[in-house]
Amino acid sequence: MITNNPFSILAETIPSIAMQIFVIAMGVLVVLGTLIDIIHKKNVKYFFENAKKAKKSAKKILTTGEKTAVVFKTIASDIATTSELGAGKRRVAHLLGMYGTILFWVGSVVMIFCYAAPYANTPSVWPIIWHVGAIMTVLGGSWFWFFLRVDVYSEAQPWYRVIQADLFVLALLASSFFGLVWSILQSLNLDDRWDDKVFLILFIISNLVLFGGVYWSKFAHMFYKPGAALQKNIAEADGSRDNMPPPADAAKKFGLGIEREAPKHY
Ligand code: HEM
Repeated sequence: MITNNPFSILAETIPSIAMQIFVIAMGVLVVLGTLIDIIHKKNVKYFFENAKKAKKSAKKILTTGEKTAVVFKTIASDIATTSELGAGKRRVAHLLGMYGTILFWVGSVVMIFCYAAPYANTPSVWPIIWHVGAIMTVLGGSWFWFFLRVDVYSEAQPWYRVIQADLFVLALLASSFFGLVWSILQSLNLDDRWDDKVFLILFIISNLVLFGGVYWSKFAHMFYKPGAALQKNIAEADGSRDNMPPPADAAKKFGLGIEREAPKHY
């Protein structure tokens, strides 16, 4: 089941060129949504102005070697292991979802562009990558959405409260969950029954919402966060510290209450 390429079976009814056009259209939607978001929020303009301002207060000019080291540190720590989330459940859930999504998307692109012909001889590694990626995304995304969302975890809102900020995580969860169920039902070969077709339609709709909703959702954080992390690490290395004062060299006086409860009220 997990070694079946769902797109090759689908190619018996839908031409592979239609699937390929769909994937390209989703990519175009992401680029458009992100560009409109950048123009509307002016966040990239602010980012570069801020970086220019910080450069003026730099205490030292970084050599090429130092800059390269900062870039590698950002990739290895901030991006690859989302170190911003600290140690704990939040980070593990994010890593599960992030790497799951990457596997799911890479698997989809490879199978749709290289092995989407009926009875294509797909190396089993690709369907395995696709199914495992979908399962990881469902696990990481559900863990985050049901248990770790700040408004649920810390503000005592009920788990079923849905707001616009949930659009990204819910569309991401829906697309991997519906994709997974569609693939399993299709591989069961239920002789033209309706089940797999319903899940295929849900899979398509959730992808349209996920990739078409970039402007309204948190999708673009996967592009903004690495940029912001790089800027933060450069500001630390060149001493400009984003124009913030250095940590005070003084005793911490938070009172006795500080030890009573782990901080989780944001
Ligand atoms: C394929 C790439 C990625 C996926 C699928 C992904 C997925 C997600 C999801 C589903 C959320 C929860 C959104 C919400 O608040 O409702 C999230 C939040 C977050 N992501 Fe990502 N992400 C990706 C890349 C990244 C990268 C590269 C970084 C950092 C460099 C990052 C840092 C964060 C942070 C800091 C949060 C906030 C977490 C929280 O509120 O607890 N993400 N991400």
